[in-house]
Amino acid sequence: MNLKRFFFQLTLLFLPIFSAFSQQFTVDQRVADLLSKMTLDEKIGQLNQYNDDHTATGPVTLDSDKGGQIRNGQVGSLLNCLGTERTRKWQEIAMQSRLKIPLLFGQDVIHGYKTTFPIPLAESCSWDLEAMKLAARVAAVEASASGIHWTFAPMVDVARDPRWGRVMEGSGEDTYLGSLIAKARVQGFQGNKLGDLDAVMACAKHFAAYGAAIGGRDYNAVDMSDRMLWEVYLEPFKAAEEAGVATFMNAFNDINGIPATGHKHLQRDILKGQWGFTGFVVSDWGSIGEMINHGTVKDGYEAALSAITAGSDMDMESRNYKNHLAQLVKDGKVPVALIDDAVSRILRKKFELGLFDDPFRFSDPEREKKALNNPDHVRIAREVAAKSIVLLKNEGNILPISKSVKTIAFIGPLVKPLKQNKGFWDVEVPGVDSTFIVSQWEGLKNKIRPETKLIYAKGCAIEGTDKSGFAEAVEAAKQADVVIMSIGERRDMSGEAKSKAHIVIPGVQEELVKEILATGKPVVVMINAGRPLVFPFISKNVPAILYTWWLGSEAGNAIADVLFGDVNPSAKLTMSFPVSVGQIPIYYSHFNTGRPAYDDNNHNYNSSYLDESIFPKYEFGFGLSYTTFTYSNLKLDKKVMKTGESVQVSLQVTNSGKVAGEEIVQLYLRDKVGSIARPVKELKDFAKVKLAAGETKTITFTITEEKLAFYNSNLEKKAESGEFDVMIGASSRDIRLNDGFVLQ
Ligand code: BGC
Repeated sequence: MNLKRFFFQLTLLFLPIFSAFSQQFTVDQRVADLLSKMTLDEKIGQLNQYNDDHTATGPVTLDSDKGGQIRNGQVGSLLNCLGTERTRKWQEIAMQSRLKIPLLFGQDVIHGYKTTFPIPLAESCSWDLEAMKLAARVAAVEASASGIHWTFAPMVDVARDPRWGRVMEGSGEDTYLGSLIAKARVQGFQGNKLGDLDAVMACAKHFAAYGAAIGGRDYNAVDMSDRMLWEVYLEPFKAAEEAGVATFMNAFNDINGIPATGHKHLQRDILKGQWGFTGFVVSDWGSIGEMINHGTVKDGYEAALSAITAGSDMDMESRNYKNHLAQLVKDGKVPVALIDDAVSRILRKKFELGLFDDPFRFSDPEREKKALNNPDHVRIAREVAAKSIVLLKNEGNILPISKSVKTIAFIGPLVKPLKQNKGFWDVEVPGVDSTFIVSQWEGLKNKIRPETKLIYAKGCAIEGTDKSGFAEAVEAAKQADVVIMSIGERRDMSGEAKSKAHIVIPGVQEELVKEILATGKPVVVMINAGRPLVFPFISKNVPAILYTWWLGSEAGNAIADVLFGDVNPSAKLTMSFPVSVGQIPIYYSHFNTGRPAYDDNNHNYNSSYLDESIFPKYEFGFGLSYTTFTYSNLKLDKKVMKTGESVQVSLQVTNSGKVAGEEIVQLYLRDKVGSIARPVKELKDFAKVKLAAGETKTITFTITEEKLAFYNSNLEKKAESGEFDVMIGASSRDIRLNDGFVLQ
C-alpha cells in the first residue's frame, strides 16, 4: 500500500468519529469554519462543475487532467457521472484533496432513472399530483442509490409554442397547474428532507422564461413584459422555491436583451432577495461563456464578472470561473464576499446531504442493485404511464377493444422498438441494457388471450419516403378484425435543440394510415411524440386516436391496459394542439382584445384569421374517457364576497356511462373588469374524481382572494373588486356550468 492510500484509508476509519463530533455544530457553523480554511483557489474550485466522460448533453471541453484538478480542490461538482462505481472513483480522488471537500454528482434525471416514466409533458396530462410526486420519488430512490446527489429537474418553464422541442420536458401552457406540478415534483425528488439516503436535490430550471423563445427556436431571445414574466413565467419558479427546492438553474436565453445567466435583477434581487432563496444557482451548460455570443460581454473575463455579480453560483462546463475569477478578485472587480457567498451556498448543500460525514453514502452497490430492480417501481411506472395517455377521439366506441377479438393487426414503425418509448431524457444507466423496456408489441402480447391472433407489419420507417412496406401492412390489415397503428416521432425529435417549423408526423406515416383506412377495417391510431403535433388527416378520418407521447419503460403494458379497457383513460391535455402552425402561439388564457372573434364564420374586422380557425384542434383540458360525465347543480355559497372571505363552489358530477371512470373537473375564473386586461379564462382549481357507472359525487372548490389576485401595473399582486365569472368545464372550451359573484 502506498503512503497516500494508507492515509486515505486512515481518514475513512476515523470518519464516524469526525461525524459524531461534527454533529455538535450547526451547518452554518461548519460552513463558516471550512470557509475560513479555504484558499481563494479552493473556493473557486467549489464553483466549478465539469462534465464527466460518460455522456455529454452539450459541447464538451476535454480536460487532460480532470483527476488532477479534483485532487487539487479545483472542482466542486461533476455532471453525467453515474453509478456507484464511477462516483466512488471520483469521490476517492476528491478525498485526496487538502480539505477533502466531497464532490456533488448532478444528473438530468428528468423522467426517471432506470425505471423510465412518461416524459413530463405526458405526465402532466394526468393532472394527478400525487402520481407525479411518486414518479419523482421513484426516480430519486433509484438515482440516489446510484451515486447521484442532485437532479437537474423539474423543468418548470411554461411553454406555449409546440415548435419548441423542450415542451416535452415541462408541464404545458398553464401557470396554475404548472406551479402545482412544480411543487409536487420538488417534493417527490427531495423526499422528507435532504440528507435522507433516498433524497436528491431538485433544481428548478431554467430561470427564467426559457419557454418563451421567439419563434419556438431553442436558445432564442425572449422579449416579454414584466407583467407577463411575473404572472405567467415566474410563478412556477416561486412555487418551487416555496416547496424548498435546493437549487435553481439559470437559462440560455436573454430576456429583453439581458442574458438570464447574467441577470442580476432576476437572480440577486428577486430570487435571492425578495424570495429569500438560500440554495445555489447553477448556470446552464456553458451559458456563462455564451454571453460572449449574446454580445453583452467581450470575453471570458467579463463573462465571469457578469455571472458572479448576477448571482450565478456554479459554472457548468464553461470554465470561465476557473480561468478568470482569481484575476477578477485581484483586480478588485469581484469582492471576495461574493465568492464566499456562492461557496457557502454550495457547501451548505454538501453538509445537508451528509457528504462531509460520509462522502460515499450514496455509493453503495448493494443498495444500487436493490433500488434498480425494485418491482414496485415498475408497477408505479405502468400506472403513471396509463394515466398519461390521452384519448382524443373514439367514434363509434371502437375503444376499448374487446378481449375476445379474433385477429388484431398491429402496424407501424413504433410497434417493436424499445428505446423509442423512453423519450428524450432517458438515462443510460451503466451496466443496464434495454431489455427491461416493454415494447408496445410485448405489452399487447402479454394482454391478449392465447387464441387471439396478432399480426405485425412495420409498414414504413419513422422518417423517409420508402413505401415498400405498405403492401404487407395493407395485407395484415385485411386479415384483421381491428387494426392498431403506432406511429409518431423518434424519441430525439422533441427535446433540447429539437425545434421544428413543421410539427407534423414525419415521413410517410400519415400516408400509411390513409392506405390502412382504405381497407375499411376499424382503425385505432396511437401517436407517440414529445410535443403537440398537427395531423389533420388522422384527426378527421381515423375513428379512434390515442395520444401516447413517450411513456417510458412500461409503455407497452400501459398502452395495452388502455387499449383493452383495463384502465379507462382519464388524461386531459395540458397544452393546446393547434390546427396549423400558423396559429402558434395558441393558448386558452388569452386576452379578449378590443375586437374579439367568437366563431370562425365572421371576419368583420375582428381578431381572427381569414384562412384558419381561431380555435385549437384539441384544447387545453381536453381528453375523453370510455364513459361520459354530466355536470349539474352548480351552487355558490354567496354572490357577494367581502375582503378576507372566500366563496364555496359546489357541483355534482355523474358518471352517465356504463363503466367506471375518472373525470378532471376544471374551475375557470374570469375577472370581468380589471385595472389591466385579464384573460378570458384562467384555471384556478380542479378535481380528479373517480366514479363508478351511474355514481354521482359532489365536488367543492374554495375561491380565496389569493385566487383572484393578479399582478397590476405596479407589479403588486392584488385582487380587485368587481365581478367574476365562474366556469366549470370538462375542458377549457367545454364549459358545462356557469355562475358568478362580486368581490367587494
Ligand atoms: C440543458 C439543461 C441540462 C444541462 C445538463 C443543458 O444543455 O439546457 O437543462 O440540465 O444541459 O445536461
